[in-house]
Amino acid sequence: MPAKKVCIVGSGNWGSAIAKIIGHNVKASNRFNPVVNMWVYEEIIDGRKLTDIINTEHENVKYLPGHKLPRNVVAVPDVAEAVKGATILVFVIPHQFISKLCDQIKPHITEGTIGISLVKGIDEGPDGLKLISDIIREKLEIEVSVLMGANIASEVAEEKFCETTVGSKNAASGVIFKELFQTPNFRITVIKECDTVELCGALKNIVAVGAGFCDGLGFGDNTKAAVIRLGLMEMVAFAKMFCTGEVNSSTFLESCGVADLVTTCYGGRNRKVAEAFAKTNKSITELEAEMLNGQKLQGPQTSAEVYKILLKKGLVNNFPLFVAVYQICFEGKEVKEFITCLQNHPEHM
Ligand SMILES: NC(=O)c1ccc[n+]([C@@H]2O[C@H](COP(=O)([O-])OP(=O)(O)OC[C@H]3O[C@@H](n4cnc5c(N)ncnc54)[C@H](O)[C@@H]3O)[C@@H](O)[C@H]2O)c1
Repeated sequence: MPAKKVCIVGSGNWGSAIAKIIGHNVKASNRFNPVVNMWVYEEIIDGRKLTDIINTEHENVKYLPGHKLPRNVVAVPDVAEAVKGATILVFVIPHQFISKLCDQIKPHITEGTIGISLVKGIDEGPDGLKLISDIIREKLEIEVSVLMGANIASEVAEEKFCETTVGSKNAASGVIFKELFQTPNFRITVIKECDTVELCGALKNIVAVGAGFCDGLGFGDNTKAAVIRLGLMEMVAFAKMFCTGEVNSSTFLESCGVADLVTTCYGGRNRKVAEAFAKTNKSITELEAEMLNGQKLQGPQTSAEVYKILLKKGLVNNFPLFVAVYQICFEGKEVKEFITCLQNHPEHM
């Protein structure tokens, strides 16, 4: 069987951290072609193209400074060229760019290609929820698995121990992805429930924004634990309402569930920006520009997608925490109202 060629579609903070792992792992296995293309959205940094910097200095100086990428990871600015001949596509870009990118990739897909999405976010579809993996599946007509977990990119790049979850309906693909991603410090569990895995990855960012509000308002760890618990309850309820197929509660015990929720509510950019939002009069957009060096915030955007879905289905009152995050971020509701939302949560009524 010919060696599988991997293309990483994306090169931000997480894209670059995962490129480190993939670059090392493909060299160690004869299942894979040893050269990995990484599609890079071209930017000029101090007068130089980011792709040239990556290909000469082997470092993504903008999104993952201080970490060398393996030399067999090649930065390619043209997505059509990047995916040419690839039979494994690893999607790792902010979710707002996925649809347009898939349209550009479609004419260049090799037969038998499989994909995996590391993208955290959701979209709104005609029947309510649309998962990012659904967009990729529909647009590219390929099988798509997902990888989600308690994986803050900088810690993964530093090779600090963590776990992650691969959701794959195809056991053979699960084996391939385990070989592609697993290292002694990045431990993988493969499960079948890919929709729930993906939904966990998206929804936890909304809860993290709520946790950040509480930090900014000066509340403590007990409050944060309550936000995590109530947020988890809403995540489970949302998954049960909107996932097609059975939702297995044990999925929430995987790294993609409670572990990712905890890590995001203590570390991560959603919590950090939400904390600053609660302490200043600045908008989320202003803070994103000031604090994130070109990175994108997923939590507020996901809360807006979720709100649209809930509004359409008449379910706004069933998810007060998700809805409060949306209203505070986008509708001028005061941050301190987040605590009122917790005090009146239907869980205690
Ligand atoms: N960073 C983390 O710790 C982490 C961990 C797990 C999952 N994720 C998820 O991975 C996904 C990618 O996040 P990230 O941290 O790698 O990205 P990032 O937020 O660090 O970087 C932004 C990326 O967007 C690209 N970009 C900017 N404008 C663009 C455009 N117009 N079109 C296409 N691309 C453009 C940039 O080149 C850069 O690669 C997100 O869904 C995120 O939630 C991130």
